[in-house]
Amino acid sequence: MGGVEEFLAADHRRLDDLLREASVVPGEFDAVTYGRFRSGLLKHIGMEEKILLPAAARFRGGEPLPIATKLRLDHGAIAALLVPSPTAEIVAVLRSILERHNRIEEGREGLYATCDRLAGGAAADLVEQLRVAPEVPLSPCNDGPKVRPALARAIRRAGYDAEADLLLAAG
Ligand SMILES: [Fe+2]
Ligand SMILES: [Fe+2]
Repeated sequence: MGGVEEFLAADHRRLDDLLREASVVPGEFDAVTYGRFRSGLLKHIGMEEKILLPAAARFRGGEPLPIATKLRLDHGAIAALLVPSPTAEIVAVLRSILERHNRIEEGREGLYATCDRLAGGAAADLVEQLRVAPEVPLSPCNDGPKVRPALARAIRRAGYDAEADLLLAAG
């Protein structure tokens, strides 16, 4: 079975591929492919925040999963990294956070497997809700003066201090 795990882990792979494709030329980011990565990742986060985590809480009688707070902080950091135009530093931090974040979601004890177990016979319905999730309206990248400090704060809030320092030093 493994409906949620299969569906959302495949989306991780698709997004990894898009990011790799967007940066095949060192030091350059293909705007169209990076745009597809960016909108796909925001939609993915939306599916987890608006559909998956609330469903998990419902299956637990209204009690959110203990890991939900950490995951939401990570999502805040990841979404903040998608605000400015991509640079080598921003994408390096994004990759490093995504790698650790996705590890919490995938695997036998991960978020997705936990949701499949909680959903039981309703897992297929849950996947169907994910499948029809709406696209996220995308704002253009913003490189204004407040973006970098706000980004560093969001990353620090999620516990990635070294990454926040790296971005502030590079900015
Ligand atoms: Fe996530
Ligand atoms: Fe995910």
